Amino acid sequence: MTDHMPDDLSAAGRDLRAYTDELRPKHSVVRNVSGEWVLLRHADVVAAAMDHQRFSSRVSRHLQVPNGFDGEEHARYREVIARHLSHEALEPFVPVFESVATQLIARLPRGVVLDAVGEIGAVFAVRVQCAWLGWPAALEPQLLAWMEENHAATRSGDLAWMVNVAEQFDKIIFAAILPCRARHGNAPDDVTTRLCREVVDGRSLTELELVSILRNWTGGDLGSLALCVGVLVAHLAEQPGLVERLRTASDSEVEAVIDEILRLDDPFVSNRRITTCPVHIAGQDIPSGARVKLNWTSANRDEAVFGNNRFDPERNAAANLVYGIGKHACPGRLLATWELRIALRALLTSVHTIALAPDHKPEREVAPVGGYRRMPVILV
Ligand code: HEM
Repeated sequence: MTDHMPDDLSAAGRDLRAYTDELRPKHSVVRNVSGEWVLLRHADVVAAAMDHQRFSSRVSRHLQVPNGFDGEEHARYREVIARHLSHEALEPFVPVFESVATQLIARLPRGVVLDAVGEIGAVFAVRVQCAWLGWPAALEPQLLAWMEENHAATRSGDLAWMVNVAEQFDKIIFAAILPCRARHGNAPDDVTTRLCREVVDGRSLTELELVSILRNWTGGDLGSLALCVGVLVAHLAEQPGLVERLRTASDSEVEAVIDEILRLDDPFVSNRRITTCPVHIAGQDIPSGARVKLNWTSANRDEAVFGNNRFDPERNAAANLVYGIGKHACPGRLLATWELRIALRALLTSVHTIALAPDHKPEREVAPVGGYRRMPVILV
């Protein structure tokens, strides 16, 4: 069906997964309260993500490196970023991530109700990213408070609040970067310092570019990682059989299971594009300059591709869109996958059971954020 309709998808106050499950069979594209065209089906989301000419990523007036660039310009910045996220660059950090995960899980209290998003996911995300970037552990409380406010601002849809929260983050990042740059000669050999020394088009990256890259690596991804942990723990608590299967699984099997759980409940909801000419997509004529949203969460549950959405890591891997597709597909996929696998393994090694907390209902996040806001579990 080719309908579009005015709806309140962006500020629905509803679990976005359930809502798009309802909409998708009848509507392939819907308009949200901001007038954006939200693509709901797998084929349309893939078509738009792969059509870099007609669906531009220049969606913001703010500098966004590399995600706000197109074409050659995007490729130049992307190359710099990819160097820090390659297998070789990340491998030395595996023991560091393992140590962060093991210590965090060992210190969690047993037999009491814990929130898997706030007390496991968010803390793990902040610690592991600080360890990777070479940032002081003292930043942890500041970053945790920032994550909470960032989610609240996103949920509220209040633009002024969102801008203010982004500025607060930039201040934190400036404080982390400036010492690295000032020290040059004797700066520590950490990822942030190495990034500060990168060259693009024969010149150093500007401070604004550095802040934008680091905002992308932390600001967005801390929240996503925390939400991913919440979704994974929820699945394990609901399926004790899966816990047993994962205890003896290889790393690649664990990673395939993680990808499939996140496909079914993708907390990284959507990305934006802007049309560069009139387009016909999802049976709809969309004008030039229209704002379009690729809804990964909905596309990842499209019955036309995933049938009845049965849990099947092997069958569904090829069409999985959790990390996007096309030239903007997530360059941090390996980092995120390793971090999540390491967190899950540490949990499985250290606990006998992960149980849903009786009398404490899980709370879903509401549009435009995905996953759970609170996931109460008891570790034994
Ligand atoms: C936690 C799980 C994560 C998920 C589910 C995720 C998902 C995605 C998706 C779907 C995109 C595509 C955006 C688009 O097409 O417009 C993307 C882009 C991106 N991601 Fe991730 N991501 C995650 C973690 C990370 C991490 C840990 C990093 C780096 C530290 C990272 C860095 C980026 C960057 C830089 C882009 C923009 C790429 C470009 O425009 O070329 N992501 N991510």
